[in-house]
Amino acid sequence: MSFNTFGHLFRVTTFGESHGVALGCVVDGCPPRIPLTAQDIQAELDRRRPGQSRFTTQRQEPDAVKILSGVFRDEDSGQDVTTGTPIALLIENVDQRSKDYSAIRDKYRPGHAGYTYDVKYGLHDYRGGGRASARETAARVAAGAIARKVVPGLVVRGALVQMGPHRIDRANWDWDEVARNPFFCPDAKAAKFFEDYLDGVRKAGSSIGAVIEIVAEGVPAGLGAPVYAKLDAELAGALMGINAVKGVEIGDGFAAASLSGEDNADEMRVGNDGRPRFLSNHAGGILGGIATGQPVVARFAVKPTSSILAPRKTVTRHGEEADVVTTGRHDPCVGIRAVPVGEAMVACVIADHYLRHRGQVGDSAAWPFSKPKA
Ligand SMILES: Cc1cc2nc3c(=O)[nH]c(=O)nc-3n(C[C@H](O)[C@H](O)[C@H](O)COP(=O)(O)O)c2cc1C
Repeated sequence: MSFNTFGHLFRVTTFGESHGVALGCVVDGCPPRIPLTAQDIQAELDRRRPGQSRFTTQRQEPDAVKILSGVFRDEDSGQDVTTGTPIALLIENVDQRSKDYSAIRDKYRPGHAGYTYDVKYGLHDYRGGGRASARETAARVAAGAIARKVVPGLVVRGALVQMGPHRIDRANWDWDEVARNPFFCPDAKAAKFFEDYLDGVRKAGSSIGAVIEIVAEGVPAGLGAPVYAKLDAELAGALMGINAVKGVEIGDGFAAASLSGEDNADEMRVGNDGRPRFLSNHAGGILGGIATGQPVVARFAVKPTSSILAPRKTVTRHGEEADVVTTGRHDPCVGIRAVPVGEAMVACVIADHYLRHRGQVGDSAAWPFSKPKA
Protein backbone atom coordinates (compact mmCIF):
# COMPACT_ATOMS: atom_id res chain seq x y z
CA MET A 1 0.00 0.00 0.00
CA SER A 2 1.27 3.47 -0.81
CA PHE A 3 1.59 6.16 1.82
CA ASN A 4 1.92 9.72 0.63
CA THR A 5 0.82 11.61 3.73
CA PHE A 6 2.91 12.55 6.74
CA GLY A 7 2.21 14.39 9.98
CA HIS A 8 -0.76 14.13 12.35
CA LEU A 9 -2.25 17.58 13.00
CA PHE A 10 -0.08 19.41 10.44
CA ARG A 11 -0.70 16.87 7.69
CA VAL A 12 1.01 16.97 4.31
CA THR A 13 -0.02 14.90 1.30
CA THR A 14 2.22 15.17 -1.77
CA PHE A 15 1.53 14.07 -5.34
CA GLY A 16 3.22 14.05 -8.72
CA GLU A 17 6.00 12.44 -10.73
CA SER A 18 9.22 13.60 -12.35
CA HIS A 19 7.83 13.71 -15.88
CA GLY A 20 4.15 14.24 -15.08
CA VAL A 21 2.19 17.42 -15.75
CA ALA A 22 2.67 18.83 -12.27
CA LEU A 23 3.43 18.01 -8.67
CA GLY A 24 2.26 19.53 -5.45
CA CYS A 25 0.80 18.99 -2.04
CA VAL A 26 -2.21 19.51 0.15
CA VAL A 27 -1.49 20.79 3.65
CA ASP A 28 -4.35 19.99 5.98
CA GLY A 29 -4.54 21.19 9.58
CA CYS A 30 -2.72 24.49 9.23
CA PRO A 31 -4.24 26.91 11.77
CA PRO A 32 -6.23 29.88 10.41
CA ARG A 33 -5.21 33.57 10.21
CA ILE A 34 -1.51 32.96 9.53
CA PRO A 35 -0.23 35.46 6.93
CA LEU A 36 0.78 33.49 3.81
CA THR A 37 1.54 34.49 0.22
CA ALA A 38 2.81 32.53 -2.76
CA GLN A 39 6.01 34.60 -2.47
CA ASP A 40 6.66 33.19 1.03
CA ILE A 41 6.61 29.69 -0.48
CA GLN A 42 8.44 30.69 -3.67
CA ALA A 43 11.39 32.06 -1.67
CA GLU A 44 11.98 28.57 -0.21
CA LEU A 45 11.40 26.79 -3.52
CA ASP A 46 13.95 29.06 -5.20
CA ARG A 47 16.62 27.77 -2.82
CA ARG A 48 15.97 24.15 -3.91
CA ARG A 49 15.39 24.92 -7.61
CA PRO A 50 17.56 22.97 -10.08
CA GLY A 51 19.84 24.56 -12.68
CA GLN A 52 21.15 27.41 -10.55
CA SER A 53 24.84 26.50 -10.80
CA ARG A 54 27.03 24.04 -12.69
CA PHE A 55 27.04 21.92 -9.51
CA THR A 56 23.39 20.85 -9.77
CA THR A 57 21.23 19.26 -12.46
CA GLN A 58 20.76 21.46 -15.53
CA ARG A 59 17.05 20.65 -15.73
CA GLN A 60 15.47 24.12 -15.94
CA GLU A 61 12.40 24.14 -13.75
CA PRO A 62 11.11 27.52 -12.55
CA ASP A 63 9.19 25.68 -9.80
CA ALA A 64 6.61 28.47 -9.80
CA VAL A 65 4.06 27.69 -7.10
CA LYS A 66 0.34 28.40 -7.31
CA ILE A 67 -1.83 28.48 -4.20
CA LEU A 68 -5.09 26.83 -5.25
CA SER A 69 -6.96 27.00 -1.96
CA GLY A 70 -6.85 27.70 1.75
CA VAL A 71 -5.76 31.36 1.61
CA PHE A 72 -8.04 34.41 1.73
CA ARG A 73 -7.55 38.21 1.78
CA ASP A 74 -8.52 39.30 5.29
CA GLU A 75 -10.42 42.56 4.85
CA ASP A 76 -9.51 43.91 8.28
CA SER A 77 -5.75 43.51 7.93
CA GLY A 78 -5.56 43.55 4.12
CA GLN A 79 -3.27 40.52 4.37
CA ASP A 80 -3.54 37.14 2.67
CA VAL A 81 -4.05 34.65 5.49
CA THR A 82 -4.64 30.94 5.89
CA THR A 83 -8.29 30.03 6.38
CA GLY A 84 -7.88 26.76 8.30
CA THR A 85 -9.05 24.80 5.26
CA PRO A 86 -6.79 22.58 3.12
CA ILE A 87 -4.02 24.54 1.40
CA ALA A 88 -3.43 23.07 -2.06
CA LEU A 89 -0.19 23.99 -3.84
CA LEU A 90 0.65 23.26 -7.46
CA ILE A 91 4.03 23.31 -9.23
CA GLU A 92 4.07 22.56 -12.96
CA ASN A 93 6.81 20.47 -14.58
CA VAL A 94 7.98 22.36 -17.64
CA ASP A 95 11.36 20.87 -18.60
CA GLN A 96 10.82 17.12 -18.81
CA ARG A 97 12.91 15.32 -21.42
CA SER A 98 11.67 11.76 -21.43
CA LYS A 99 13.75 10.84 -24.48
CA ASP A 100 16.90 11.23 -22.33
CA TYR A 101 15.76 8.04 -20.65
CA SER A 102 14.70 5.97 -23.68
CA ALA A 103 18.02 4.04 -23.68
CA ILE A 104 17.29 2.78 -20.16
CA ARG A 105 13.62 2.04 -20.77
CA ASP A 106 13.97 -1.61 -19.73
CA LYS A 107 17.12 -1.32 -17.61
CA TYR A 108 17.33 -0.60 -13.92
CA ARG A 109 19.83 2.05 -12.75
CA PRO A 110 21.88 0.46 -9.93
CA GLY A 111 21.28 2.45 -6.76
CA HIS A 112 18.03 3.98 -8.05
CA ALA A 113 14.51 2.84 -7.24
CA GLY A 114 13.54 1.37 -10.64
CA TYR A 115 13.84 -2.28 -9.61
CA THR A 116 12.02 -1.94 -6.30
CA TYR A 117 9.13 0.10 -7.76
CA ASP A 118 8.82 -2.46 -10.58
CA VAL A 119 8.93 -5.51 -8.31
CA LYS A 120 6.25 -3.89 -6.12
CA TYR A 121 3.92 -2.24 -8.64
CA GLY A 122 4.73 -4.10 -11.87
CA LEU A 123 5.35 -0.80 -13.67
CA HIS A 124 8.60 0.89 -14.65
CA ASP A 125 8.34 4.67 -14.98
CA TYR A 126 11.81 5.02 -16.49
CA ARG A 127 11.26 8.75 -17.23
CA GLY A 128 13.41 10.33 -14.56
CA GLY A 129 12.44 7.88 -11.83
CA GLY A 130 8.73 8.70 -11.72
CA ARG A 131 7.50 9.13 -8.16
CA ALA A 132 10.93 8.13 -6.78
CA SER A 133 12.43 11.24 -8.37
CA ALA A 134 13.50 14.06 -6.09
CA ARG A 135 11.16 16.34 -8.06
CA GLU A 136 8.75 15.26 -5.32
CA THR A 137 10.87 17.06 -2.72
CA ALA A 138 9.78 20.42 -4.17
CA ALA A 139 6.36 19.72 -2.65
CA ARG A 140 7.99 19.07 0.73
CA VAL A 141 9.85 22.37 0.55
CA ALA A 142 6.59 24.17 -0.27
CA ALA A 143 4.87 22.55 2.73
CA GLY A 144 7.85 23.40 4.91
CA ALA A 145 7.49 27.09 4.03
CA ILE A 146 4.02 26.99 5.61
CA ALA A 147 5.22 24.93 8.60
CA ARG A 148 7.84 27.55 9.43
CA LYS A 149 5.03 30.06 9.98
CA VAL A 150 3.02 27.86 12.32
CA VAL A 151 5.47 28.02 15.24
CA PRO A 152 6.11 31.61 16.43
CA GLY A 153 9.82 32.41 16.60
CA LEU A 154 10.94 29.18 14.91
CA VAL A 155 14.08 29.47 12.75
CA VAL A 156 15.20 26.38 10.85
CA ARG A 157 18.51 26.56 8.96
CA GLY A 158 20.59 23.95 7.20
CA ALA A 159 24.14 23.66 5.94
CA LEU A 160 26.33 21.21 4.04
CA VAL A 161 29.08 20.16 6.47
CA GLN A 162 30.84 17.41 4.51
CA MET A 163 31.28 16.50 0.85
CA GLY A 164 32.75 13.10 0.15
CA PRO A 165 35.48 12.61 2.79
CA HIS A 166 36.03 16.38 3.18
CA ARG A 167 34.57 17.99 6.31
CA ILE A 168 34.24 21.72 6.86
CA ASP A 169 36.22 23.44 9.61
CA ARG A 170 33.53 24.19 12.21
CA ALA A 171 35.66 27.04 13.58
CA ASN A 172 34.87 28.89 10.30
CA TRP A 173 31.08 28.43 10.67
CA ASP A 174 29.21 31.52 9.42
CA TRP A 175 25.49 31.20 8.70
CA ASP A 176 25.62 34.21 6.35
CA GLU A 177 28.10 32.31 4.18
CA VAL A 178 25.48 29.63 3.42
CA ALA A 179 23.63 31.95 1.01
CA ARG A 180 26.86 33.14 -0.62
CA ASN A 181 28.07 29.90 -2.23
CA PRO A 182 26.35 27.24 -4.38
CA PHE A 183 26.85 24.49 -1.76
CA PHE A 184 24.93 25.89 1.27
CA CYS A 185 28.29 25.64 3.00
CA PRO A 186 28.91 27.71 6.17
CA ASP A 187 32.72 27.60 5.77
CA ALA A 188 33.90 29.96 2.98
CA LYS A 189 37.26 28.21 2.68
CA ALA A 190 35.69 24.77 2.36
CA ALA A 191 33.20 26.13 -0.21
CA LYS A 192 36.11 27.33 -2.36
CA PHE A 193 37.70 23.89 -2.12
CA PHE A 194 34.40 22.17 -3.00
CA GLU A 195 34.28 24.11 -6.31
CA ASP A 196 37.35 22.41 -7.74
CA TYR A 197 36.63 19.14 -6.00
CA LEU A 198 33.09 18.83 -7.39
CA ASP A 199 34.17 20.04 -10.83
CA GLY A 200 36.56 17.08 -10.88
CA VAL A 201 33.82 14.67 -9.84
CA ARG A 202 31.37 16.11 -12.39
CA LYS A 203 33.81 16.08 -15.28
CA ALA A 204 34.71 12.48 -14.51
CA GLY A 205 30.99 11.64 -14.95
CA SER A 206 30.90 10.47 -11.34
CA SER A 207 29.07 11.61 -8.18
CA ILE A 208 29.73 12.04 -4.46
CA GLY A 209 27.85 11.98 -1.14
CA ALA A 210 27.48 14.64 1.55
CA VAL A 211 26.46 15.30 5.15
CA ILE A 212 23.89 18.00 5.95
CA GLU A 213 23.26 19.59 9.33
CA ILE A 214 19.94 21.16 10.28
CA VAL A 215 19.61 23.46 13.30
CA ALA A 216 16.18 24.52 14.56
CA GLU A 217 16.13 27.43 17.00
CA GLY A 218 13.09 28.64 18.89
CA VAL A 219 11.68 25.15 19.43
CA PRO A 220 9.59 25.49 22.60
CA ALA A 221 10.61 23.22 25.49
CA GLY A 222 8.06 20.45 25.86
CA LEU A 223 7.44 19.51 22.19
CA GLY A 224 7.52 15.76 21.53
CA ALA A 225 5.14 12.93 22.32
CA PRO A 226 6.65 10.05 24.32
CA VAL A 227 6.90 7.25 23.91
CA TYR A 228 6.01 6.35 20.31
CA ALA A 229 6.19 9.84 18.80
CA LYS A 230 9.37 11.10 20.39
CA LEU A 231 10.57 14.28 18.70
CA ASP A 232 13.93 12.70 17.81
CA ALA A 233 12.28 9.56 16.45
CA GLU A 234 9.93 11.55 14.23
CA LEU A 235 12.71 13.83 13.01
CA ALA A 236 14.80 10.79 12.15
CA GLY A 237 11.88 9.25 10.25
CA ALA A 238 11.17 12.46 8.36
CA LEU A 239 14.80 13.00 7.36
CA MET A 240 15.31 9.34 6.49
CA GLY A 241 12.29 9.64 4.19
CA ILE A 242 14.14 12.10 1.94
CA ASN A 243 15.48 10.53 -1.27
CA ALA A 244 19.06 9.25 -1.02
CA VAL A 245 19.35 9.69 2.77
CA LYS A 246 21.13 6.72 4.36
CA GLY A 247 21.75 7.87 7.94
CA VAL A 248 20.46 10.36 10.52
CA GLU A 249 22.02 11.60 13.75
CA ILE A 250 20.56 13.78 16.51
CA GLY A 251 22.98 15.90 18.54
CA ASP A 252 26.29 14.06 18.87
CA GLY A 253 24.68 11.01 17.27
CA PHE A 254 27.06 8.10 16.70
CA ALA A 255 29.95 10.06 18.25
CA ALA A 256 28.11 9.88 21.62
CA ALA A 257 29.04 6.21 21.78
CA SER A 258 32.69 7.11 22.32
CA LEU A 259 32.03 9.74 25.03
CA SER A 260 32.02 9.21 28.80
CA GLY A 261 28.94 10.10 30.86
CA GLU A 262 30.71 13.21 32.17
CA ASP A 263 31.47 14.40 28.65
CA ASN A 264 28.11 13.58 27.14
CA ALA A 265 25.49 14.77 29.67
CA ASP A 266 24.64 18.46 29.26
CA GLU A 267 25.06 20.04 32.68
CA MET A 268 22.49 22.57 33.87
CA ARG A 269 22.49 25.93 35.63
CA VAL A 270 19.82 28.58 36.13
CA GLY A 271 20.14 31.35 33.53
CA ASN A 272 19.73 35.07 34.13
CA ASP A 273 16.16 34.79 32.86
CA GLY A 274 15.38 32.20 35.54
CA ARG A 275 15.09 29.45 32.93
CA PRO A 276 17.40 26.43 32.86
CA ARG A 277 20.65 27.02 31.02
CA PHE A 278 22.48 24.03 29.54
CA LEU A 279 26.27 24.22 29.52
CA SER A 280 26.53 22.19 26.29
CA ASN A 281 24.22 20.58 23.72
CA HIS A 282 25.41 17.03 23.09
CA ALA A 283 21.76 15.91 23.22
CA GLY A 284 20.83 18.03 20.19
CA GLY A 285 18.05 19.75 22.10
CA ILE A 286 16.02 16.63 22.89
CA LEU A 287 15.80 14.53 26.09
CA GLY A 288 13.31 11.71 26.56
CA GLY A 289 11.89 12.51 23.14
CA ILE A 290 10.93 16.02 24.37
CA ALA A 291 12.49 19.34 23.31
CA THR A 292 14.65 20.97 26.00
CA GLY A 293 14.35 24.46 24.52
CA GLN A 294 17.95 24.29 23.24
CA PRO A 295 18.53 24.31 19.47
CA VAL A 296 17.44 21.03 17.91
CA VAL A 297 20.36 19.66 15.88
CA ALA A 298 20.07 16.87 13.32
CA ARG A 299 22.46 15.62 10.66
CA PHE A 300 21.86 13.32 7.74
CA ALA A 301 24.10 11.49 5.30
CA VAL A 302 23.18 11.61 1.61
CA LYS A 303 24.53 8.94 -0.71
CA PRO A 304 26.21 9.77 -4.04
CA THR A 305 23.87 10.16 -7.04
CA SER A 306 23.27 6.76 -8.58
CA SER A 307 22.82 8.11 -12.13
CA ILE A 308 26.40 8.37 -13.38
CA LEU A 309 28.13 8.19 -16.75
CA ALA A 310 30.37 5.23 -15.85
CA PRO A 311 28.99 1.95 -17.29
CA ARG A 312 27.38 -0.21 -14.57
CA LYS A 313 26.29 -3.84 -14.50
CA THR A 314 22.54 -4.29 -14.23
CA VAL A 315 19.59 -6.42 -15.37
CA THR A 316 16.61 -5.58 -17.56
CA ARG A 317 13.02 -5.89 -16.43
CA HIS A 318 12.85 -8.96 -18.69
CA GLY A 319 15.52 -10.78 -16.69
CA GLU A 320 18.58 -10.29 -18.94
CA GLU A 321 21.97 -9.07 -17.82
CA ALA A 322 23.03 -5.71 -19.31
CA ASP A 323 25.28 -2.70 -18.91
CA VAL A 324 23.77 0.70 -18.27
CA VAL A 325 25.08 4.23 -18.72
CA THR A 326 22.89 7.04 -17.47
CA THR A 327 22.95 10.17 -19.55
CA GLY A 328 20.36 12.90 -18.96
CA ARG A 329 20.74 15.68 -16.41
CA HIS A 330 21.69 14.77 -12.86
CA ASP A 331 23.03 16.34 -9.69
CA PRO A 332 26.69 15.31 -9.17
CA CYS A 333 26.11 15.73 -5.41
CA VAL A 334 22.45 15.45 -4.46
CA GLY A 335 23.37 16.51 -0.91
CA ILE A 336 23.53 20.13 -2.06
CA ARG A 337 19.86 20.52 -2.96
CA ALA A 338 18.92 18.27 -0.04
CA VAL A 339 19.70 21.15 2.35
CA PRO A 340 16.39 23.05 1.90
CA VAL A 341 14.57 19.72 1.79
CA GLY A 342 16.02 18.75 5.19
CA GLU A 343 15.04 22.14 6.61
CA ALA A 344 11.49 21.65 5.32
CA MET A 345 11.11 18.20 6.86
CA VAL A 346 12.35 19.44 10.22
CA ALA A 347 9.98 22.44 10.07
CA CYS A 348 7.02 20.16 9.26
CA VAL A 349 7.78 17.79 12.16
CA ILE A 350 8.17 20.69 14.61
CA ALA A 351 4.94 22.37 13.40
CA ASP A 352 3.11 19.06 13.78
CA HIS A 353 4.43 18.60 17.32
CA TYR A 354 3.65 22.21 18.21
CA LEU A 355 -0.01 21.61 17.34
CA ARG A 356 -0.08 18.21 19.05
CA HIS A 357 1.46 19.70 22.21
CA ARG A 358 -1.08 22.52 22.15
CA GLY A 359 -3.85 19.93 21.75
CA GLN A 360 -2.83 17.79 24.71
CA VAL A 361 -1.07 20.14 27.12
CA GLY A 362 -1.88 23.71 26.06
CA ASP A 363 0.71 25.99 27.65
CA SER A 364 3.71 24.12 29.06
CA ALA A 365 3.98 23.90 32.84
CA ALA A 366 5.22 27.14 34.48
CA TRP A 367 8.77 26.12 35.49
CA PRO A 368 10.18 26.46 38.17
CA PHE A 369 7.64 24.84 40.48
CA SER A 370 7.18 26.18 43.98
CA LYS A 371 8.57 24.07 46.84
CA PRO A 372 6.01 22.08 48.86
CA LYS A 373 5.28 23.66 52.25
CA ALA A 374 7.19 21.89 55.05
C1 LIG B 1 17.58 17.03 -4.00
C2 LIG B 1 17.81 15.67 -4.58
C3 LIG B 1 18.11 15.56 -5.92
C4 LIG B 1 18.34 14.31 -6.50
N1 LIG B 1 18.70 14.23 -7.82
C5 LIG B 1 19.01 13.03 -8.34
C6 LIG B 1 19.50 12.93 -9.69
O1 LIG B 1 19.66 13.94 -10.38
N2 LIG B 1 19.77 11.70 -10.17
C7 LIG B 1 19.63 10.56 -9.41
O2 LIG B 1 19.91 9.47 -9.89
N3 LIG B 1 19.19 10.63 -8.15
C8 LIG B 1 18.87 11.82 -7.60
N4 LIG B 1 18.44 11.89 -6.30
C9 LIG B 1 18.33 10.65 -5.50
C10 LIG B 1 17.19 9.73 -5.95
O3 LIG B 1 15.95 10.41 -5.92
C11 LIG B 1 17.16 8.51 -5.00
O4 LIG B 1 18.44 7.97 -4.87
C12 LIG B 1 16.24 7.43 -5.54
O5 LIG B 1 14.90 7.86 -5.46
C13 LIG B 1 16.36 6.10 -4.77
O6 LIG B 1 15.96 6.25 -3.45
P1 LIG B 1 16.95 6.03 -2.21
O7 LIG B 1 18.29 6.55 -2.63
O8 LIG B 1 16.35 6.87 -1.10
O9 LIG B 1 16.97 4.58 -1.89
C14 LIG B 1 18.21 13.13 -5.70
C15 LIG B 1 17.89 13.26 -4.34
C16 LIG B 1 17.70 14.52 -3.77
C17 LIG B 1 17.39 14.63 -2.30
